[in-house]
Amino acid sequence: MSTEQLAASVAEADRAALARVSALPLADFRDEHLATQLRRALASEGVGDAAALARRLAADPTALTRFRRSIAVSVTGRFRDPHQFELLERELLPPLLQQPGAIRVWSAGCSDGSELISLGLLLERLGALERTQLLGSDLLEENLRRAHEVDTALSEQLRARLRWEQRDLLAGSAPGGGWQLILCRNVAIYFTAPARARLERLLADALAPGGVLLLGRAERLRDPRALGLQPAGPHAYRRSA
Ligand SMILES: C[S@@+](CC[C@H](N)C(=O)[O-])C[C@H]1O[C@@H](n2cnc3c(N)ncnc32)[C@H](O)[C@@H]1O
Repeated sequence: MSTEQLAASVAEADRAALARVSALPLADFRDEHLATQLRRALASEGVGDAAALARRLAADPTALTRFRRSIAVSVTGRFRDPHQFELLERELLPPLLQQPGAIRVWSAGCSDGSELISLGLLLERLGALERTQLLGSDLLEENLRRAHEVDTALSEQLRARLRWEQRDLLAGSAPGGGWQLILCRNVAIYFTAPARARLERLLADALAPGGVLLLGRAERLRDPRALGLQPAGPHAYRRSA
């Protein structure tokens, strides 16, 4: 069965059962993405259809975690897309570091924290850690547990700056406003267009004046000006001061 046929064949009731058992906002993910991940889950769990998969997930917590991480796509890595960290160091961070006061950084959709930790290591090297607050948020508790485990290997100074919290970016609210830098890379690519639009508005409104939003290397805002943002570099946007 092709991915499209599979997407079409997943009955509403089965989708609802998968959403219920996985506790994931499945309606916000693109159909093709769901169909691809579903196809993989059927193969890896050895079941024939979505209804059987829902029953398996309800009975097996390990399979459930596998499914949740694959739908939410938890791939990440330290200094992923290194040219984006070069851009941060060369162009995006210097104006932020020149401002007085705290530098608040939010990694929205942080997975196991690798992205935020990379940024923390960069700020440590630039001597700016003392003024920094670093927040990583993710939909999945499973990912945040990994983040907590990984951060035990970091310096005391860096660990003291890090905070992790569970948050569904599409459920409506940001963790306060006034962020100088928001990283939201490789998160929205799996979302439907309406979900992406909601997320873009949330992120733009959460920036401090002069604050910067950095998306992934395959992502762009459709209408940055409508959100009060100006292009600030490849896949980067600045809120007017
Ligand atoms: C591909 S990873 C990206 C991780 C990191 N930003 C990077 O680029 O390396 C996508 C992350 O977004 C999270 N995510 C997906 N949907 C989300 C939502 N509605 N709210 C918050 N996080 C979400 C996933 O759990 C996953 O950890």
